[in-house]
Amino acid sequence: MCGIVGYIGTEDAKEILLKGLEKLEYRGYDSAGIAVATEEGVHVFKEKGRIATLREVVDQGVKSTVGIGHTRWATHGEPSKVNAHPHQSESSRFTIVHNGVIENYEQLKRDYLQAVTLQSDTDTEVVVQLVERFVHEGQSVEAAFRHTLSLLKGSYAIALLDKKDTDTIYVGKNKSPLLVGVQDGVNVVASDAMAMLQVTDQFLEIMDEEIVIVTKDDVTIKTLDGTAVSREPYTAELDASDIEKGTYPHFMLKEIDEQPFVIRNIIQKYQNEDGSVRLDEDIRQAVMEADRIYIIAAGTSYHAGLVGKQLIENFAKQPVEVHIASEFLYNMPLLSKRPLFIFISQSGETADSRGVLVEVKKLGYKALTITNVPGSTLSREADFTLHTHAGPEIAVASTKAYTAQMAVLTLLAADTAKAKGIDLGFDPIQELSIVANAMETLCNQKETLEKIARDYLAVTRNCFFIGRATDYFVCLEGALKLKEISYIQAEGFAGGELKHGTIALIEEGTPIVALATQEHVNLSIRGNVKEVAARGAFPCIISIEGLNEEDDTFVLPKVHSHLTPLVSVIPLQLIAYYAALHRGCDVDKPRNLAKSVTVE
Ligand code: M6R
Repeated sequence: MCGIVGYIGTEDAKEILLKGLEKLEYRGYDSAGIAVATEEGVHVFKEKGRIATLREVVDQGVKSTVGIGHTRWATHGEPSKVNAHPHQSESSRFTIVHNGVIENYEQLKRDYLQAVTLQSDTDTEVVVQLVERFVHEGQSVEAAFRHTLSLLKGSYAIALLDKKDTDTIYVGKNKSPLLVGVQDGVNVVASDAMAMLQVTDQFLEIMDEEIVIVTKDDVTIKTLDGTAVSREPYTAELDASDIEKGTYPHFMLKEIDEQPFVIRNIIQKYQNEDGSVRLDEDIRQAVMEADRIYIIAAGTSYHAGLVGKQLIENFAKQPVEVHIASEFLYNMPLLSKRPLFIFISQSGETADSRGVLVEVKKLGYKALTITNVPGSTLSREADFTLHTHAGPEIAVASTKAYTAQMAVLTLLAADTAKAKGIDLGFDPIQELSIVANAMETLCNQKETLEKIARDYLAVTRNCFFIGRATDYFVCLEGALKLKEISYIQAEGFAGGELKHGTIALIEEGTPIVALATQEHVNLSIRGNVKEVAARGAFPCIISIEGLNEEDDTFVLPKVHSHLTPLVSVIPLQLIAYYAALHRGCDVDKPRNLAKSVTVE
C-alpha cells in the first residue's frame, strides 16, 4: 500500500527519492509524487500511474538536497493526479505525504476547516491544512504538527516539509509503518528499510504516537506531548541484491525458484548441532502452557495457518483454531482459559492482523508472530517472534513466504510434540530436506507447467481447484494465486462440496485442477473428478508418486504425507505465473492489489 520516503543530506534528493519509490513499487500503488525544497520554495511533481511516468515530469533543472516522496494506493478519492501525494496547505507553505487512513477526517473538516477550500478528495489533505491553521494561530511548526497528530483517529505515517525551514522534515507515525535511517550528514525516512538501503543500513524504529524532527545532522524523537525519547539505531540485515530481479523477468519467478534455498536456510537457522530442532525455550513454554492455539492471518498467510493447524494438531495433539484476521474481532469465538495467539504475516504489517493483536494484548494474552520481517509491527508488539528467513518477498503474489511459513510451523509442531514426549516416528528436519530437493525438481519442470497453463487456462474465464483434507487448503492457495495475478475467476473447493451447488457452474471445457496427494482421500477425490468430467469439465490431476495413475497430468515427487502442501503448491504457483504471463498481465504488480495491506 502507500509508501513514503524522505531525504535530507547533500546529494540530489530527486533521484534518491525516485529510486526509493521504485523500491516501494512492490507494495502496490496507483499514483506517485515527490516534493523537493529549494530556496525558491517547494516543488511538487506528481502523476497518476507508474514511477516511470512520474520520472518524465520531474524537472531535472530543480536542484535540491531535501525532499519527500510517496506512492499512493487509493482509499479516499479515485486514483488521479489531484489526489496523488504530496498535498499542500492553502498557502503552499506546508507539503505532506501520508500513508494510512484518517478515520475522522470529515469531522475534522467540519470542526476546523470550514473556511478552507480543499483541493483533493483525500483524507490526507485535512492534515496539512490543520498544521497551517494552527501555525496561523501562533503555534510553532513542531507544536502545530503535534497538535494536529493528537487530533487524528486512524492510521498514519506522515512526512511534512515547511517551505520556511527547508532544513527539516517533520515525521509522525501511528499504526502505519515508518523508519528513520541515519548516517553522518544525511538522514532519511522510509516506510520500509529496502527503500533507503541505497543511503544507509542504520535505522531507528518509530513507535506509535511519536514524532521525529529530522535534519541533515540530527534526529530528535518526541512523544505527542513533546517529551524527548532516546533510541539507538539497529542494522537492517538486508542484502541489496536480494531486492533486485537479477536475470529473472519477474520477482515472482525468482521467488518461486528461491524456495528450495529458503527451506534449507530455515533448516540451518532452526537446527541444533546434534540435528534436532532449535526453538527458544520461551516459545516452547508458551505453546506447552496453552490449552488452545488461535492462528490469526490474512490471505496466503491464512492458508498457511490452515496447514499449520493440521501440523500442530497431528504432531503435538494440541487444539488449534484458524481465523481470518479481518473477521476475528466481529466474530470472536469463545476463548479457552489459556489461549496462545499465533499471528502469521509475511510483512508483519497487515493492519487487520495488527488490529487483533492490539485487542489480544489488551486482554492480557500471549502472542507469537511468525513473520518474514522481524522488526515489523506485528513482530515488535507480540511476545515472541519466529522468523521465516525467506529473504525479501517483492512480488505481490506471495510464494516463498507461504512455504517458509509452513516450514516454520512444521518445526514448531515437531518441537512441541517432542517437548510433550510424543514420538513422531520421523525426523522433521530430514523430511524438510527431502521437501527442498523435491522443490528443486519441480522448479526444473517449468516447461511442462507452462504447457499445462497454456492448455488449460489460455482462454478460460474461470477455473476450479478441488482437493480433500490438506489438499483442500492448498487448493484455496492455488486459486488465490491464479485469480490475483491472471484475473481468471478461480475458486478452491473441498472435493465433496462441489455437488452441493458449485457443480452447476461446470460447463463443457471448464478447467478443474484436482490435487491428489493424500492416500486416505485418494479414491474419493478421484471420484469427484469423475463427477465433474462427466459434466464436461477438463480435469488436470496433480498427484504424487505412489498415488499416481496413468492419466494424471502431473506427478509430484514423494515427500512425507504431512508436508505435501510445501511441494504441491509449487506447480500451482508456476501455472498461475504462466497463465498470467500468457494473458499479458503485470505479474509482479497485479491491479488493485498491494503487497503490504496497511489499512483495515
Ligand atoms: O503480509 P501478510 O502475510 O500479512 O499479508 C497477507 C495477505 O495480504 C497476503 O498473503 C495476500 O493474500 C497475498 N497477496 C497473496 O498472494
